[in-house]
Amino acid sequence: MNNQEWIAEGEKYLMHTYGRLPMVVTKGEGSRIWDADGKEYLDFVSGIAVNGLGHCSPAVVEAIAEQSKTLIHCSNLYWIEPQIRLAKLLVEHSSLDKAFFCNSGAEANEGAIKLARKYAVEQGHGERTDIVTMKQSFHGRTLATLKATGQEKFHQHFHPLPEGFSYVSFNDFADLEQAITEKTCAVMLETVQGEGGVVPADLTYLRQVRALCDEKGILLILDEVQCGMGRTGTLFAYEQYDIVPDIMTLAKSLGGGVPIGAFLATDKVAAAFHPGDHGSTFGGNPLVTAAGTAVVETMLKPGFLDHVREVSNYLWGKLQGLKEKYVDILEVRGKGLLVGLALSHEGSGIVSFAKEHGVLVNCTAGTVIRLLPPLTVSKEEIDEAVAVLDAAFENNIGQR
Ligand SMILES: Cc1ncc(COP(=O)(O)O)c(C=O)c1O
Repeated sequence: MNNQEWIAEGEKYLMHTYGRLPMVVTKGEGSRIWDADGKEYLDFVSGIAVNGLGHCSPAVVEAIAEQSKTLIHCSNLYWIEPQIRLAKLLVEHSSLDKAFFCNSGAEANEGAIKLARKYAVEQGHGERTDIVTMKQSFHGRTLATLKATGQEKFHQHFHPLPEGFSYVSFNDFADLEQAITEKTCAVMLETVQGEGGVVPADLTYLRQVRALCDEKGILLILDEVQCGMGRTGTLFAYEQYDIVPDIMTLAKSLGGGVPIGAFLATDKVAAAFHPGDHGSTFGGNPLVTAAGTAVVETMLKPGFLDHVREVSNYLWGKLQGLKEKYVDILEVRGKGLLVGLALSHEGSGIVSFAKEHGVLVNCTAGTVIRLLPPLTVSKEEIDEAVAVLDAAFENNIGQR
């Protein structure tokens, strides 16, 4: 069946929860995907930061194939070999001590929220139930993570939502200081905001937040679901701030395409969870953690993160060039290969133009073109994508 025929079937049988582009993706390899009409695209969306190693990376394909011959699933009533292996890798290469595996970013954040509240209880502060998050943040679509998300547009129609969340302006330390009360148990933020328009935490701000949390005896939760796993040029984005979180959440690129999420915590904080406090049927099952192990092992190979830094510098140079050329590009921002072009107008026209010309990019927060190429992207592929963006701006796309 071709694109049109598949889409007709999809319209009939799937809930209409996504504003999808009119293409059906049937195959992926490296930085490229193909649709049901056989058209090839350069993929600078990467499943929204999931395909960090590119599509069908041989390391991930092999890990899944091998694991599927041995053991696909077994319950967390028992110990699971690849789960232990992946936890060890993440712990040994972060500043955190224990991991819990789940199935998505939202679930990772749900778990982090539960852990922060339980930690407060164990510290003798059962009154500390509240979490301060950032305006324009995005933490997921479950009821609690929706409420943690500081964007009202996601809340409407879904009330009542869980209590215990308040919002402050991102990168505004004074706003945060006044928002902390005797009821606060944690501050939660994305090290680099993704959905909210690709905005990194300022260096000084994040250090001040860390110091404030220490002073108040509350936890710092970093959501690295989108910006973690090598995307910013270090395995975790927080490494570039010279601070350590108490809890960090991960998902997206962690599994190279299979559904996995995780939250990591320091020993002191993780000790608040006892058997029965949290769990997941599929969380950390052998198949997904074997894939995750292959992903992390690949990212830790000498040269991998150097490559991310080198190509991201190259991409930033090219995008700065575009900014100098076109007044409708207000800012190039983000970190590493999580890049936003903030425009003076709507970005959806650019996305459609790029798609027609064989390059997939995404628009977030209405006016920000977000580029999330695979971490394995080459300079030639960057040239190709930037040439299409150049043509889009040259033709005043989106300005009309
Ligand atoms: C920073 C951040 N946190 C959490 C989530 C939710 O992840 P998931 O869609 O896997 O539940 C996302 C998804 O975009 C995200 O970007």
